[in-house]
Amino acid sequence: VKITSYGVRPIEQPYFDKLNKYDFDMTYVEELLTHDNVTAAQGADAVLVRGNCVVDRQNLEAFAGWGIKYVFTRSVGFNHMDLQAAADLGIEMARVPGYSPYAVAELAFTLGMTLFRHVNLAISQTRQADFTISNAMFSKEIHTATVGIVGIGRLGYTEAKLYKALGAKVVAYDPYPSDAAKELAELVDLPTLLAQSDIVSIHVPYFPGKNEDLVNTDFIQQMKSGAVLINTARGELANVPAILKGLEDGHLSGYGTDVVADEVAIIGKQFASVNEVPNQGVQDLLRANPKVLITPHVGSYTEPALQDMIRISYDNFHDILTTGKTANAIHA
Ligand code: COI
Repeated sequence: VKITSYGVRPIEQPYFDKLNKYDFDMTYVEELLTHDNVTAAQGADAVLVRGNCVVDRQNLEAFAGWGIKYVFTRSVGFNHMDLQAAADLGIEMARVPGYSPYAVAELAFTLGMTLFRHVNLAISQTRQADFTISNAMFSKEIHTATVGIVGIGRLGYTEAKLYKALGAKVVAYDPYPSDAAKELAELVDLPTLLAQSDIVSIHVPYFPGKNEDLVNTDFIQQMKSGAVLINTARGELANVPAILKGLEDGHLSGYGTDVVADEVAIIGKQFASVNEVPNQGVQDLLRANPKVLITPHVGSYTEPALQDMIRISYDNFHDILTTGKTANAIHA
């Protein structure tokens, strides 16, 4: 069975090879799937993508035209997959519902602590040979602080554990908390979480047309003055003008994000300057350094997470090829 896998960096290829227990005939394309490299899948039986691959109707029509029936993603999020087009074309889709939750949780935690202790502010200054100490560097300690987790699924739960280990109080908001989450964190409503937390970390899925701008002016105004906001979920969940306003009026002391809006046009690309980044909001956030930290969607870019993504994706293909279905199917 021939599978074309997009977005496979050279460092990842040995893992794809080593974990290939079903002996799939793999073709690796280093670039993410776009309209320009869709033909690399011609002749394949199935396609494997990752987040920020363009899995729209146009590309799915091309795949369907070549007889490709399975287009799976090795990401948790599937907001890049046109489920309706796939259904119309008779293409099956599946995802990886979970991989090492430490990958994203550790990054969210690291961004949170970095801003909480004003490390980026301090580093930005010392880099310019400025060793003065400003009021803005005065800090609380994490064991005296409260951390608010918005969405305490696998990722939020794992981040909560990291903060708990350091003695922080952890509150969480989630309409469907697991028993384990209820045991670990104090479940509260969102206004209570925002009013109490020194660090707020977002772990909710993005549903296009449904929850963009979850983090808006109202959300930020409910936050404790001087709190830190962390987003390792999706850029579209946070309204950039509202964040910049929060940073200006002091409701936010920092914004750490691994995700930006319009990632397809940005992630994986190098621009000559901030002015060239094709999204005004991202430009504005970059200019708000040192209060804003941005990483290029690398939360899941760890060895254990990669191995899980590959292993589960191979299982997804094996299941559908041998039984006609997979437990990890996604439908419109
Ligand atoms: C996800 O798994 O949903 C991610 O955000 C990872 C990324 C490679 C798109």
